[in-house]
Amino acid sequence: MVHISEEEINNIRKRADIVDIIGGYITLTKKGQDYKCVCPFHDDHSPSMSVSPAKQIYKCFSCGAAGNVFSFVQNYEQVSFVEAIKIVADKVGYQLSGNFDYEKKEKYSLEYEIMDLATKFYQNNLVTKKGLQAQEYLKNRQINQDTINEFQIGLSLDDPATLSELLLKKGYKLQKLIDLGLTNENTSRLSDMFIGRITFPLWDKDGHVIGFSSRIYRNENLPKYINTKETYLFKKGENLFNYHRAKKYAKNKELLIVEGQLDAIRIYSAGVRNVVALMGTALTKSVLDLLKNLRCQIILCLDNDDAGLNATLKNGDILIEAGFEVKVIRLSGSKDPDEYIKEFGVDAFKKNMSSPLSYLDFKISFLKQKYNLNNNEDISLYLNEVLEILNNNNDDIYTELTLNNLSKEFNLSLGTLKNRYNSLKKVENVAKEVFTPSKVVENKLTSLDKVTRKVLYYMMNDAEYIKLYQKKLGYFTDKNYRQIANEIVYFMEKNGYINIADFISYTSLLPINKLVLEISGEDEKLEQGYFLNYLNLIKKKVRENKIRDLKKEMRKEQDVHKKMEMAKEIAEIKKEVL
Ligand code: CTP
Ligand code: MN
Repeated sequence: MVHISEEEINNIRKRADIVDIIGGYITLTKKGQDYKCVCPFHDDHSPSMSVSPAKQIYKCFSCGAAGNVFSFVQNYEQVSFVEAIKIVADKVGYQLSGNFDYEKKEKYSLEYEIMDLATKFYQNNLVTKKGLQAQEYLKNRQINQDTINEFQIGLSLDDPATLSELLLKKGYKLQKLIDLGLTNENTSRLSDMFIGRITFPLWDKDGHVIGFSSRIYRNENLPKYINTKETYLFKKGENLFNYHRAKKYAKNKELLIVEGQLDAIRIYSAGVRNVVALMGTALTKSVLDLLKNLRCQIILCLDNDDAGLNATLKNGDILIEAGFEVKVIRLSGSKDPDEYIKEFGVDAFKKNMSSPLSYLDFKISFLKQKYNLNNNEDISLYLNEVLEILNNNNDDIYTELTLNNLSKEFNLSLGTLKNRYNSLKKVENVAKEVFTPSKVVENKLTSLDKVTRKVLYYMMNDAEYIKLYQKKLGYFTDKNYRQIANEIVYFMEKNGYINIADFISYTSLLPINKLVLEISGEDEKLEQGYFLNYLNLIKKKVRENKIRDLKKEMRKEQDVHKKMEMAKEIAEIKKEVL
């Protein structure tokens, strides 16, 4: 990997005006010196984000998102820092020197190499004599050669360790093979993880093979599927099957989510490309992030059994909660999309896709079946659940229409329904008020945190305050703040200047970056008087804390001499002139 220099990063940043770049994603309106826009990082209704051309940073007053042009692109596009640099460089026509690649790829190049070899080995097995029965199985399932090639479907042999032996012979370490989940651990003889199964590579979002799923293909009394167990490359629940292929087809459009990889393979091969598979797991935070990146609608098309129905409700709720527009397809006549397409053809499937139910309609009709709507108690419970659903959704027109329908259906006055709906809404709003993330964070900050952050903000913006800090304080007791201060001092010494936007880039790959971004959102006018006051406040607070801790220790101490020593120490601290 060609290391991209800090100088180059700063040059790109200078060329990329943050107003142009953010303006390319969302509409900005000028307000005084700054620009305002709707914050893309939370469910924003009024413009809460401010973009400063002078400082080349952005900040959301509501959710606290803040940073420079690279952090904006990084978060908006859900990419790594290095990828964000590439994107910005591209936008401003900056020719990057060297072909640097993003860090994860570099970090795991050996692992990817091994996984690719395993994939090829399995693929090759399938076309040998030993693969005849597996080929027959695939043929019976109507999985043709093109699909086998495209999805790199293969076969693990019946012998206990053919893959492990091959990889060891090539010089890879046994421990690495175990760590990657290819070879079993703690067995008396060398043994492969996958034996006598059809193999399906599992890819990460960028298309690296990071694991395998494997299926029996003979009439065997064994688990149908065995997948790579959790490894440092393959984290269960962090990937969706076929995401790396589907992403470009789903971007800004819609994404079809199915249960099994063979459903996804069937659908994709039939020409519907925007499809991914859950592989039997529920949606996690990481997967939601992958989906958010696509800014697409979601169509859930899960299996046609109770498990599939429950998974639709569970995942649908999660998706709605995360702000997605969700549609649902329930296929009737076969157990899953794979069989549906085999039986009724892809056109019938596409027809289903073109008229999905909205998730709300789906859920309401599901509830209707759940309750016995012949008795009043159940009707009341049903209506309550429907009102709650309407509450969680912010579509006024949909709400109005549904309330009208319910009123007719159950012969209830619209007023009664609306009253109930409004009182639920009120409770909901209060709950939201209390639990908005920025407020929660705010509450957790001590007064010392708050002042320290202000001081660091000043230092990131103006070298004068770095000098003052060094002269008058020079040290934060908190490890993270101290590290940021040290980095600021280091940046200044190395570059001979400081500005907040370049400092953000500089810390992008450090663990403190998140904190730096938070602090960059402080947004204060710099005034020396205030700054000196802040420093004094910190000294005072640190002294108070020290005294408090010593007193606590003193109370616990049994030894009289030691108690005396501590009392003296406290007195000394109190005497210190700040
Ligand atoms: N699965 C798994 N382990 C199992 C069963 C299922 O990991 N023992 C995952 C697989 O990824 C599978 C998905 O859950 O694709 C859905 O399971 P299921 O509906 O049983 O499988 P199908 O996709 O219908 O598989 P097939 O058609 O091959 O029977
Ligand atoms: Mn199936």
